[in-house]
Amino acid sequence: MDKSIKKIGVFTSGGDAPGMNAAVRATVRAARGMQIDVCGIYNGYDGMIQGSFEPDIEHKIANIIQRGGTILKTARSKQFMTPEGRSKAYKNLKSQGIDALVAIGGNGTYTGAMKLGNEHDIAIIGLPGTIDNDIYGTDYTIGFDTAINTAIEAVDKIRDTADSHNRLFFIEVMGRHAGYIALHTGIGSGAYTVFLPETETDIPQFVQDLKKQRKKLFNMVIVAEGNTNGNAHEIAQKVKSSGFDQDIRVAVIGHLQRGGSPTCHDRVLASRLGYNAVRCLLDGDKGIALGIVNDKLQKTPFQEAIKEQKALNEDLLNMLNLLSK
Ligand code: F6P
Repeated sequence: MDKSIKKIGVFTSGGDAPGMNAAVRATVRAARGMQIDVCGIYNGYDGMIQGSFEPDIEHKIANIIQRGGTILKTARSKQFMTPEGRSKAYKNLKSQGIDALVAIGGNGTYTGAMKLGNEHDIAIIGLPGTIDNDIYGTDYTIGFDTAINTAIEAVDKIRDTADSHNRLFFIEVMGRHAGYIALHTGIGSGAYTVFLPETETDIPQFVQDLKKQRKKLFNMVIVAEGNTNGNAHEIAQKVKSSGFDQDIRVAVIGHLQRGGSPTCHDRVLASRLGYNAVRCLLDGDKGIALGIVNDKLQKTPFQEAIKEQKALNEDLLNMLNLLSK
C-alpha cells in the first residue's frame, strides 16, 4: 500500500456524461472505506487553477448515484493547456494537501492528466467518462449506455411518424469523431443504415440502393454528427439533389443524449471504476487510465490510451446493413 497518499482529489472534465456522479460517489466512498481523505474539485482543470475545492465532498455525495450531469460541474480550460497553468494548478492542489487525483472524462482530460503527472509529483488515475465511447482501453465508457438508450427512445418515436407518413428520416446523433452512438442506435432501432465519421458513404449509390427497396415505404437513417458528408440537414439536401423524390425529414437529437438518469449499466460501470481507482492509487499505480475489458479491470498508460484509436466493430456495421434490408 502506498502510505504516502493521504488525500485524493476527484474531478470531472470535458463533456458531461450520465454516470459521472456515480463515479464520484464510488471514489469518495471507497477512499473513506480505506481511510483516505477526499477533496472534490469543481469545474475540472479550471477549478484547480482557480482554487475551487470542495473539502466536504463526503457530505455532498448522498443521493447522487441516480442523477445525470455532474455535481462537481465541468469545464474546458485553455489555461491548463500551458505549463504555467498546470504549475498553478499543482500549487493549489498541494495547498489543499492533495497528493493524488482521480480524473473523470475523455481524451482531453487524459491529455491534461498525463501532462500534469509528467511535470509534477502527483499520482493520477483516469476514468473514461464520455457518452461517445471513443476511449481506448475499455469496452464501454461511463455514459454511453444511457446515451444510446435515450437516443433509441427518441428514434422509436420518430419511427411512428415516419411510418405514418411514409417518409425518409435522417436522425442525427452525437459523435464528432466516433460512430459508436450512431452504430448502436442504428442497430437497436432497426434503422436502414448509418452514416459514421469512420466510413465514407457514396450518396448517389445510397439513393440508388434506397430506390431498390421494394417492401419498405419509410426508412430511418442514423447520422453521426461528424460524418464526412456533413450533418443530417446537409445529407438530406444532398440526397434530394441526387434525385430522391420521397418526402424527407430531419431530426437532431442533440444534447438530450448527454442528460438523464444513468442506466444501471452505467451506474455499475462507474462504481467499479471509482472503487478501483482508489485501490490502484493505494497500490502505487499512476499515469494510467482504467477500463473494463471482457469484464476485467484493464490499466492503460495515458500515453497509449490517448494515442490509440478504438476500432469500430466493422462486423456490427455489416450486420446492421444486412438485417435492415
Ligand atoms: O461528450 C462528447 C460530445 O457529446 C460529442 O459527441 C459532441 O460533439 C460534443 O460532446 C459536444 O459538446 P459541447 O456541446 O459540450 O461542446
